Amino acid sequence: MNVLVVGGGGREHALAWKISQSPRVEKVFVAPGNAGTARDLVNVPIAATDKAALIQFAKDESIDLTIVGPEAPLVAGLVDDMEAEGLRVFGPSREAAELEGSKVFCKNLLHTANIPTAGYQTFRSGDEAIRYIKDRYPEPGEPAHVVVKADGLAAGKGVIVCSTRDEALDAIDRIASRREFGEAGDELIIEEKLIGQEASVLAITDGETIVTLPAAQDHKPANDGDTGPNTGGMGAYCPTPMIDEEMMTKIESDVLVPIVHAMKRARRPFKGVLYAGLMMTAAGPKVLEFNVRFGDPECQPLLMRLKTDLVDILEAAIDSRLAELEPLEWDQRPSICVVMASEGYPGDYEKGREITGLDEADAVDGVKVFHAGTKLVDTQVVTDGGRVLGVTAIGDTISGAKLQAYTAVKQIRWRGAWCRKDISDKALQTSAT
Ligand code: AMP
Ligand code: GLY
Repeated sequence: MNVLVVGGGGREHALAWKISQSPRVEKVFVAPGNAGTARDLVNVPIAATDKAALIQFAKDESIDLTIVGPEAPLVAGLVDDMEAEGLRVFGPSREAAELEGSKVFCKNLLHTANIPTAGYQTFRSGDEAIRYIKDRYPEPGEPAHVVVKADGLAAGKGVIVCSTRDEALDAIDRIASRREFGEAGDELIIEEKLIGQEASVLAITDGETIVTLPAAQDHKPANDGDTGPNTGGMGAYCPTPMIDEEMMTKIESDVLVPIVHAMKRARRPFKGVLYAGLMMTAAGPKVLEFNVRFGDPECQPLLMRLKTDLVDILEAAIDSRLAELEPLEWDQRPSICVVMASEGYPGDYEKGREITGLDEADAVDGVKVFHAGTKLVDTQVVTDGGRVLGVTAIGDTISGAKLQAYTAVKQIRWRGAWCRKDISDKALQTSAT
């Protein structure tokens, strides 16, 4: 069969890499892809949000299965439009993708379904939000442990964690007045700041059956020790010792089962990947957000460990047959992904810098370099985004996998390249205690 992967980041490189290992698959196309998918598979120069061109391509090339990687085309209804044309596609409908597309919709649903989450208020204007903060925190400079969020999609950056009243007021100004996140800031949420370790629990569901994947941990802040501004994710590892079997059962029954039911009751049945971003607080796991797709970079270490044919899983979900699927098989060894980023990310950065050492990095034992923001200029790979590469390794232990990943990172060079040095250290702290 022929498969189309929509998207061009590290997650899509990993998806396409895994799908191409299926004995049932002949050709894998990636739209638009990156330099890594151009080397390993076939790139198609169509943007992930160009619905008409993607549908035409899928028809012309007799695509048997499409998987949509990023949230933007899901929220824009690519799955609905492809299905309306008789195409087979994995991912949630537009209405189901609202769970990620609108944080206000998500929080209200969490509240109705009684799923643990941070206390919150929603606001339709910056003025209302400012009044709320000034009422609650009347003194300038007063501590205010709140998180200010833009309602809509903002590439992981529309969430501002604050410690003081003035930071909160500035965050509201950035979202509502300066419109840094465009119309994503039409509505705002202010919520209580939760304390704890974060974990990502992803599940594949057909709207009835939930197949939970091993828990992963992302590293959202830009700098070591979880400092600096939030990013799309600077690295991940899996499984995380923070979530044992008992905790996973609790997360399934307190979070995943009720959300799948709540979506069904809201007449937005959810099919696809349901990603719960959790804070493991002293009072138990609480939902920070839901995403409606594989996480990036969580997808890279997850798929490196998956032994079951991914195509079989995706098709079972599409056909509502997940209940009949054999339990998923996993490599028992842990894996880690270190994101290498452009100088300046998550702020402004330059593109087009020449990357060297990729083959040497890939040659390190247990390593696969997934590309994210890269492109080919003739035969030279150059930077083309903020998160450039996801250097992913598997090893006998977490520290072994970490060593392999960073050994590979050292082989790779471009001007201004940087990465966090502490990806997976939180796992080592957890297991030491
Ligand atoms: P979100 O996109 O809502 O997951 O937020 C992005 C990141 O902001 C999360 O991964 C957390 O690191 C942080 N964050 C979001 N909401 C909260 C909260 N209520 N308390 C503490 N940190 C938060
Ligand atoms: N790793 C965070 C995300 O994919 O949103």
